Amino acid sequence: MAMSTEEVLHEIAAEVSTGSKWNLCKGRTKAVPGEGNSHAKILFIGEGPGFNEDRQGRPFVGPAGQFLEELLTSINLQRPDVFIANVVKCRPPNNRDPLPDEIQACNAYLDRQIAAIKPQVIVTLGRYSMAKFFGSEKISSIHGRARSVNGYLCIAMYHPAAGLHQSSLKDTIREDFKKIPHLIAEAERVAAEAAAKQAKAAAPVQAASPKEPPQQLSLF
Ligand code: URA
Repeated sequence: MAMSTEEVLHEIAAEVSTGSKWNLCKGRTKAVPGEGNSHAKILFIGEGPGFNEDRQGRPFVGPAGQFLEELLTSINLQRPDVFIANVVKCRPPNNRDPLPDEIQACNAYLDRQIAAIKPQVIVTLGRYSMAKFFGSEKISSIHGRARSVNGYLCIAMYHPAAGLHQSSLKDTIREDFKKIPHLIAEAERVAAEAAAKQAKAAAPVQAASPKEPPQQLSLF
C-alpha cells in the first residue's frame, strides 16, 4: 500500500536524523528535518538550523522563530497550520553560510518534503531557499512577489533574522506576509478551476433528452 504523507515525512525525518555521511552531520547536536502540518497549504523554507535549533532538533525556535510566530499570528495562522523546513538540515559550524555541496547534499530531502506536502504556496526565507526557486535574482527586487515555479506558487521574503538585525526590514517582512492569505486564496481558486475542468472532461457525454430540459442549479 502507498505510504501516507505523514509516513513519507516521518521516513524523511528519520533518514535526516540518522544520516551520518555528510559533512554537516559531524558537528551537529541534533538534525533538524523540519516539522508541521503534513497537509499544510503553506511551506516555509529557511536556511539552516542555528544554535537553538541544533539543541532542540526543531526549526525556528530561537529569536528568528519568535518573529516568525508573530508574523504567522498576524495572518491568523499558527505553527501547527504550516510546515517549516530548511535548506540544510544540520547546523553549519558557528552559523557560517552553508556551502554549495552541503546544500546539494540536503536538496533531495527538501525536494521529497515538497513532493509529499504539495503545498499551495512556498515561502522562501532568506537567500539560500530563494536561490532554489528564483536563481540568482536579488531579494531586494523580488521579495513579496509571487511566481509560479514548477507548479508551485512561490514567494521570496527576507529572512526573519534580517528583520531582527535591521528594523526597517521588519516592516517589509510584515507587509510581505500580508500577501500570503491572498496567495492561498488564489492558489485554491486555480486548483478548483483545474479540478472542475478535469471533472468536466471525464464526465460521460449525456444524450439530450427532449422530455427533461437541462435544469439550472440554484446555489441559494
Ligand atoms: N534560521 C533558519 O534559517 N532556520 C532555522 O531553523 C532557524 C533560524
